[in-house]
This record gives sequence, structure tokens and C-alpha cells, in this order.
Amino acid sequence: MAKKSATKTQPDMIPSTDEAQPQFRVDYREIQAFGTLKHLPIALEGNARTQSVSLLNQLLADTMTIRDLYKKHHWQMTGATFYQLHLLLDKHYEEQAEVVDTIAERIMMLGGVSIAMAPDVAELTTIPRPPKGREDVPTQLSRLLQAHELILKEARDAADAADEAGDDGTNDMIVASIIRMNESQVWFIAEHLSETVLTRSDA
Ligand SMILES: [Fe+2]
Repeated sequence: MAKKSATKTQPDMIPSTDEAQPQFRVDYREIQAFGTLKHLPIALEGNARTQSVSLLNQLLADTMTIRDLYKKHHWQMTGATFYQLHLLLDKHYEEQAEVVDTIAERIMMLGGVSIAMAPDVAELTTIPRPPKGREDVPTQLSRLLQAHELILKEARDAADAADEAGDDGTNDMIVASIIRMNESQVWFIAEHLSETVLTRSDA
């Protein structure tokens, strides 16, 4: 029997072992199409999982968008409260980024496929696209509040739908991670839009 050679020698190459050579030139291959559901033994009907995956991908697109909106406004902040808002918006960005991971992994554990890349997010999100340019402070904060309200409305609807379908895990995640966090962030942002005088001349 011919012995398999572990070493290949070509005229213009230094000899290398087959096992040590990383095989990085592969044919790209998709193993699960977007929109399909893999069966997992989690005692949850396919219909319930399909519905939750679809609702969660919408919430994922909008959460990725508000996450990035927070970073945009963190960078482009201005005015007398620059330092405070610069830090607050980055804190909210970090919290949204953590929930992005939670939503995407919930989709995968239901057997679905999560969206991931910016063009797919842009296609799916319901949050209006802001201009590339820099906006004033009330506009930046109002945009964030508008995005929060869109997410909260769809999160409440999705939580109800998951509850009715018997998907307790999705219902619990939406309420505990998405609704509570967005409500808290709305409070912190909205308070900055009250009329405030920093000094008084009538004392
Ligand atoms: Fe920063």
C-alpha cells in the first residue's frame, strides 16, 4: 500500500507539512438560510419559535440602530452640558450593546438566524435615519426619545405575542432586558429636555 506523503515539494516553494498549513482559501458555504428554523429540543412549538424569531430580529435591528445613534450623539454632543451628556450617552450605548447580544443569542437559541451586518440592519429598522451631519442638542435628544418609543411599542407587542404563544423565555427577556432598560434610559434623557436655568439674576 502506498504511504500517504506528509510533505509536498513544489519547485518554487519551501516544503511544508499538510497538517500545519492553514486551509484559509475555502469555498464560502452557507449552512442555514436566513428565515429558516432549526429544530431544537426546547419543548416549544415551531410556530411559536418562528413568530418569536421574526419579532426578535425586528427588535434586534432597532436596538442596533439606537445603539449606534447613542454613539453618534456621544461623539457629536455640544453645549454647556457636553461632559455630562457625553458620558451619559456612552453609558446608554454600552447598555444597548449588551442587549443586542442578548437578543441575537435568544434568536439563535430558538433555532433561528439573527441579522448581524449593517446593511441588513438598515433594511429592517423602523427608526428614521438621521443626517450624517451634526444636529443641535434638543434634536439629538428628541431623536433618541423617538427611537426609544418605537422600540418600547414594538417590545410591548412582542412580549404580549410571545406570552400568548407560550414562549416564556422570550417574554421574560423582552420585559426584563428591553422594556425596563429602555424605560430607564427614556427617564434619564427626557429630564434633560426640561427648561432649566443655570443662574438667576432676580435673587
Ligand atoms: Fe468615547
